[in-house]
Amino acid sequence: MNPSRTPLIAGNWKMFHGGESSVPLAAGVVAFAKELSNVDVVVAPPFTALAAVSAEIDGSPVGLAGQNLYPKPEGAFTGEISGPFLKQCGCGWVIVGHSERRQHFNETDPIVADKVAAALGSGLVPIVCVGETLAQREGGETLRVVKAQVEAFLDVIAQSAVAVAIAYEPVWAIGTGKTAGPAEAEEVHAAIRTWLANKDPKLAERTRILYGGSVKADNAAALLACPNVDGALVGGASLDPGSFGAIARAAQAK
Ligand code: PGA
Repeated sequence: MNPSRTPLIAGNWKMFHGGESSVPLAAGVVAFAKELSNVDVVVAPPFTALAAVSAEIDGSPVGLAGQNLYPKPEGAFTGEISGPFLKQCGCGWVIVGHSERRQHFNETDPIVADKVAAALGSGLVPIVCVGETLAQREGGETLRVVKAQVEAFLDVIAQSAVAVAIAYEPVWAIGTGKTAGPAEAEEVHAAIRTWLANKDPKLAERTRILYGGSVKADNAAALLACPNVDGALVGGASLDPGSFGAIARAAQAK
């Protein structure tokens, strides 16, 4: 396997553990991550906990991600956080275009593309999220929808030598306890890899395609065994170091 496709397990804490409780959670992640080899582990706490988590994971193999960024480096944008700020807080990564942001904060494909460019321009590795709704899946539109989402930022990632991550997260699987079966996930992951390869074979080789949506300790191994699943973006289960660690250990078997 291409070394840039080392399995990546990223924990999206969403709007949980924004204060003091972030520190013991981060410590729990460090404790299991130290014992792993050949798996990259990243956590994405709320902005308000980034500094504390950065201090806690310092010197450990755990990476730090923001959950979002504003596409401008600075300016009169009250309430927003830029890529350079995330970088200064110790982040190496940033989640972009999560479906909750697309749904609740009107993030469109062009906004997502701008954010991917801003992340790369700030020296952050974006984890760009794509995925269809239940109505789109039931309407047989999954591949059309996901392709349009990927195409929106394809030129941006093709112009960069950075190995970005794309997270395929079916919206109907997020926080619902429903996951795509391994075959359903692999179908979309393989399609994404093909679209990347059509643009540039090297882009397809270096891009990690993560699965997300109700990944748990008991379903992770089957999903991670799929040839085009290079890791997982984990929400709920990342809030417990026991289950997050079990998912990361499942990735070691890849
Ligand atoms: P979940 O969230 O694991 O709680 O479904 C995944 C995500 O939203 O990234």
